[in-house]
Amino acid sequence: MRVTITGAAGFIGSHLAQSLLPDNDVVGVDNGRSGDWSRVPAGVVRHDVDITEPGVEQWAELLEGTEVLFHLAAEKYNSSKSSPEKVIATNISAMATMLQGAGRAGVRHVVFTSSLYAYGSLEMPAMRESQTLKPTTYYGMSKVAGENLLRVAQKEQGISWAAARLFFVYGPRQYAEGGYKSVIMTNFERMLRGAAPVINGSGTQRLDYVHVDDVVRGLIELAGPQYAELTVNLGSGTAPTIGELTQLMQSIAGHEGNPQWAPPDWTDHSVRLADVEIARRAMGWEARTDLESGLRGVWEWINRR
Ligand SMILES: NC(=O)c1ccc[n+]([C@@H]2O[C@H](COP(=O)([O-])OP(=O)(O)OC[C@H]3O[C@@H](n4cnc5c(N)ncnc54)[C@H](O)[C@@H]3O)[C@@H](O)[C@H]2O)c1
Repeated sequence: MRVTITGAAGFIGSHLAQSLLPDNDVVGVDNGRSGDWSRVPAGVVRHDVDITEPGVEQWAELLEGTEVLFHLAAEKYNSSKSSPEKVIATNISAMATMLQGAGRAGVRHVVFTSSLYAYGSLEMPAMRESQTLKPTTYYGMSKVAGENLLRVAQKEQGISWAAARLFFVYGPRQYAEGGYKSVIMTNFERMLRGAAPVINGSGTQRLDYVHVDDVVRGLIELAGPQYAELTVNLGSGTAPTIGELTQLMQSIAGHEGNPQWAPPDWTDHSVRLADVEIARRAMGWEARTDLESGLRGVWEWINRR
């Protein structure tokens, strides 16, 4: 089967391409904005394309023969404050054009990576797919819009779809950007240099970390026709505090001594945890990688780089 991955050179996209390649024709689309083609396996057909540029006809040509489209390319959460217009252009306008092209090309199914930021909630209890979405960032709002665009594409173009609301994905090859999703990379890199890990605020923030291998398995599963119109959280269903996470990372890295405490930011005391009941019941999916072995893998990868 031919599959196309937008954002193929990114963290999750490159892992997804690697998993799909043995059994499929894999086409990758990426402009290298935050991705790196060098980590995409040979054998993936490469299109250096900015997704905001093609019109409907160009998308239809690019997607000719594609059965399943994994749509991962996006402006990320960090762009919400600095360039909201880019978030809207990439995550909403470009997606709308791409889906029209996908319809013309006869794409059967789209798997979309939405985000926990669609919820807009920072508290207990766990975020559940059925709750009212109240995003408070341009990024979160754009993911809600993306989910709704899938419904429009289904009605207008007859494309089926599934949407995965990803939680904090971690694993080898992740970048050390800002934000809590990469506190793992940032602090492991600090410890590699002999510096203490940094904790912002009280360290009681609780985040749901899910390993990239589990997420990739979930995304591939969602390509199945039986999951049409499913919106599902892909998270671990557990949320350690940043203090606990840091302690575990210190023991893996063999770093003794205290963390460095930095002033609290807006996430202090927040809880972002996935309810994973629908993933379990509807897909039989659950995260299999426990945090300790997942972190060990990241630490080994950082040391090998
Ligand atoms: N990593 C996480 O914790 C997480 C959590 C929730 C949702 N997500 C979603 O999962 C998807 C993949 O995230 P990731 O962590 O792999 O991010 P990433 O930044 O590593 O990958 C995104 C890829 O999209 C590409 N891209 C961005 N803008 C583009 C454009 N205009 N044209 C073409 N390519 C473009 C980038 O170059 C990059 O390779 C995104 O949609 C993201 O919103 C990720």
